[in-house]
Amino acid sequence: MSNHVPSTREQCVEADASDPLGAFRDRFQLPEGVIYLDGNSLGALPRHTLERVERTITQEWGQGLIRSWNDAAWFTKPTDVGDRIAPLVGAASGEVVVADSTSASLFQVLVSALRMRPDRSVIVSERDNFPTNLYMIQGTQELLAGAGRQLDRRLIHDDGPTLDEVLDDDVAAVVLTHVNYRTGRMYDMAAITEKVHAAGALMIWDLCHSVGAVPVSLGAAGADFAIGCTYKYLNGGPGSPSFVWVPQRHHDPARPALTGWQGHAKPFEFTVDYEPAPGITRFRVGTPQLLSLAGLEASLDIWDDVDMAQVRVKSLALTDLFIALVETRLSGHGIEVVCPREHDRRGSQVSLRIDGGYPIMQALIERGVIGDFRAPDLMRFGFTPLYLGYADVWDAVSVLEEILTSGVWQEERFARRGAVT
Ligand SMILES: Cc1ncc(COP(=O)(O)O)c(C=O)c1O
Repeated sequence: MSNHVPSTREQCVEADASDPLGAFRDRFQLPEGVIYLDGNSLGALPRHTLERVERTITQEWGQGLIRSWNDAAWFTKPTDVGDRIAPLVGAASGEVVVADSTSASLFQVLVSALRMRPDRSVIVSERDNFPTNLYMIQGTQELLAGAGRQLDRRLIHDDGPTLDEVLDDDVAAVVLTHVNYRTGRMYDMAAITEKVHAAGALMIWDLCHSVGAVPVSLGAAGADFAIGCTYKYLNGGPGSPSFVWVPQRHHDPARPALTGWQGHAKPFEFTVDYEPAPGITRFRVGTPQLLSLAGLEASLDIWDDVDMAQVRVKSLALTDLFIALVETRLSGHGIEVVCPREHDRRGSQVSLRIDGGYPIMQALIERGVIGDFRAPDLMRFGFTPLYLGYADVWDAVSVLEEILTSGVWQEERFARRGAVT
């Protein structure tokens, strides 16, 4: 499938019939008549999530009450669940912990990295990074300025400056997102990490659009810290917690920003002074979001059975198909495909730049083809191989073709904007 792009709907149906990942679709509950191309924003609902969350509510909470901290292993959930995420990001057991939000997790690891490079004064990131990363860097600068440490923020961009141009021996840490949220462009994690290390800086990766989307090898790349969310490709559910990866070699030197009691070495001794727990546990802060964690556990039951290499092959085949269909069937509509053509630079999404992107996306959603829109002009489509097939891609492009040809998207109601796009 990776080399041959179907050119008829029949060929798409045949490709679905021989798809080694085809059976996973039944493990998700998707509404009838919907083609869901927004799993890069919020993943779909696994069928047994409801039962799993209900068990936590009715049995573990309702019956077990406070006893469940031990009996249902609530207390060690953040690291137990972290161990289940570890294989998806090329991490070892004991290197991943789940908690909080990606933004908070970035603060935790950024402050750790800055403390490990006390004599350096620059944080590098990129202008096109997801804004929360840029804001968290600014907040950290402000905070540390108050403590007498002045830090500069240098931002790279495709139009310059490049990473090579900003890296020098003032740089303490580099914060990049592996797969860009707008364009789906993927960085070479190992090559960039090596370059950053050559300058003596530490490398922090945001994996929000990578985990469950592309194979990730944090350990092999020699990265220093990583964070990511679990509600996109991992399908953990709305608001499911983020994760933090810290390789074992940094566990002792790393001092996270937030020194909460659940990251303490002996939380139930209730001592007056903070003492960091050994290992990744020191990246815990307070009481974990146990209902959200139950949803995440349900989705990881699916991931336990998934071969990430198969996901990658199908993801590239689906995005290749979508790009080919847009270019052949929708030429003449002024669409620009915004994502790298090279497989090794593409994540699992395709964005289309077109005038009227917002109302066109609303017209698509009204017809059951759900993607999203990112200002100023990008329609974004995520491809999730566990519950999407080749015929879905064909049908989605057919609906887009109908909308563009008929001009229905110009009706006034499609221009109305909700708070979330
Ligand atoms: C690259 C990236 N980082 C971070 C976030 C958001 O993080 P949080 O979990 O704090 O909302 C997103 C959200 O879409 C993202 O795309």
